[in-house]
Amino acid sequence: MTPALFISDSAEETRAHAAHFAVGAVAGMILRLHGDLGAGKTTWMQGFVAGLKSADEVTSPTFSLLHEYRGGKLPVFHWDLYRLGPGTDWDLLDLPEHLPSKDGVTVIEWSERYPGPWPDGNCWDIQINIDANDRREIRISKP
Ligand SMILES: Nc1ncnc2c1ncn2[C@@H]1O[C@H](COP(=O)(O)OP(=O)(O)OP(=O)(O)O)[C@@H](O)[C@H]1O
Ligand SMILES: [Mg+2]
Repeated sequence: MTPALFISDSAEETRAHAAHFAVGAVAGMILRLHGDLGAGKTTWMQGFVAGLKSADEVTSPTFSLLHEYRGGKLPVFHWDLYRLGPGTDWDLLDLPEHLPSKDGVTVIEWSERYPGPWPDGNCWDIQINIDANDRREIRISKP
């Protein structure tokens, strides 16, 4: 099992942690990634997608909001809501219909921007904090 708290010394260790978590990934899972700018959310995503045996390149969907990776065991829908403010008309986005996605995993950076509702079910919070020594504390929990 992936430990609930992991201290990562490098981007590579963060990717390895995510790849390990991906072993348990199933369709319908929702992962909410939390952490400041540059904490390592997209880096963690790179490891998660690689862990699903996809060779797709993972980059931040900051402008397009959504990137899809279909090269692995499960499709991954990677959202980045950073640019969206309180006035967002969420009905215009495809996000609600990915909560959950019936055939893939939904992963959301800056999920705090979305007011909900969040479904019950297979939802996880992944919090990444930068400590005083520039290491990353990665905490996984269920809401
Ligand atoms: N232990 C570590 N884990 C993850 N990233 C690290 C670590 N140490 C250094 N880094 C570096 O920190 C940066 C993390 O950037 P990344 O784009 O993953 O952050 P982010 O949380 O997605 O930011 P944003 O909110 O802007 O999308 C990368 O340049 C990465 O190489
Ligand atoms: Mg990012």
